[in-house]
Amino acid sequence: MAGNLMHAVQYSSYGGGAAGLKHVEVPIPTPKQGEVLLKVEATSLNPVDWKMQKGMLRPFLPRKFPYIPGTDIAGEVIKVGAGVKNYKPGDKVVAILNHGSGGGLAEFAVAKESLTVGRPPEVSAAEGAGLPVAGLTALQALTQSAGVKLDGSGQQVNLLITAASGGVGQYAVQLAKRGNTHVTATCGARNTDFVKSLGADEVLDYKTPDGAALKSPSGRKYDAVIHCAMGIAWSTFEPNLSANGKVIDITPGPSALMTFALKKLTFSKKQLVPLLMIPKKENLDYLVKLVKEGKLKTIIDSKHPLSKAEVGWAKSIDGHATGKIVVEP
Ligand SMILES: NC(=O)c1ccc[n+]([C@@H]2O[C@H](COP(=O)([O-])OP(=O)(O)OC[C@H]3O[C@@H](n4cnc5c(N)ncnc54)[C@H](OP(=O)(O)O)[C@@H]3O)[C@@H](O)[C@H]2O)c1
Repeated sequence: MAGNLMHAVQYSSYGGGAAGLKHVEVPIPTPKQGEVLLKVEATSLNPVDWKMQKGMLRPFLPRKFPYIPGTDIAGEVIKVGAGVKNYKPGDKVVAILNHGSGGGLAEFAVAKESLTVGRPPEVSAAEGAGLPVAGLTALQALTQSAGVKLDGSGQQVNLLITAASGGVGQYAVQLAKRGNTHVTATCGARNTDFVKSLGADEVLDYKTPDGAALKSPSGRKYDAVIHCAMGIAWSTFEPNLSANGKVIDITPGPSALMTFALKKLTFSKKQLVPLLMIPKKENLDYLVKLVKEGKLKTIIDSKHPLSKAEVGWAKSIDGHATGKIVVEP
């Protein structure tokens, strides 16, 4: 930081991948009503960050160029805007920034108080920064869409979690095992032991014929699939689902949306449910508490300094991260 300037990483147009990211000095933002200014300690990347850069969410996101990407941050409160009640300078927090405004790949960022939660000393900045998009998506998919109760009550739910080694999948497996579930998970061969160590009951290598067919080794049918991978057809899921089984698709493409509509219109018992994560402060708080209590881990794929954020960006685009990619100023 020099004067009121800070280091940040931004892009000014669609496309360009990692090479499209530029290192700049820009003014430190000022917290407005209900906002806190944070000194960023860690930012985790999500595929949606580079998908936005690619133009996959145009014309909605990003709302303007140049755009500083990154929504999942952990940091320290430096200043509070008018009306902020629960935070003061020096507080350590985790926050999720709006995808419209972004701002995470920078030394400082402003967050809404309403999407900021306290971070106890047991939760490192990197562990906290991993949680927002990936953790909240896993939690919402499991509890809201699949109906799993994380206190362990209720009938056993047979789950399939695809791409269990990724950012969302690693949280989904750990959270699922807090409930009364049997978890079958898919990942690459190199991550089989890792995914078992997260709690999965059985693991399929997605590159084997049985893995590609999503067949449970113990012959189970799935009540719900938390689908974190991409490019798997409904016809592959369908024979593996229980009578009322549903596929919760967190990256629904056009054909998934067609299936969703068709299954609804025909009152099919087997359903495809597209999921869009809606950030909720109480859910983020819950996840941070689980990490504090040692009941949930953030698996870190790699850490990159802000000065080399493009290396982490390229890694995320590559699609082979094990856990979360973190950038640290
Ligand atoms: N709807 C929402 O609100 C929402 C929220 C969050 C994320 N998402 C979307 O969800 C998807 C997953 O996000 P993420 O952060 O978990 O991604 P990620 O961390 O980039 O996922 C990478 C992992 O996926 C594994 N993988 C890739 N293809 C696979 C397959 N066919 N079967 C099994 N594993 C496979 C890779 O394993 P290998 O290296 O072995 O290939 C790698 O470990 C992304 O498309 C993201 O945009 C949507």
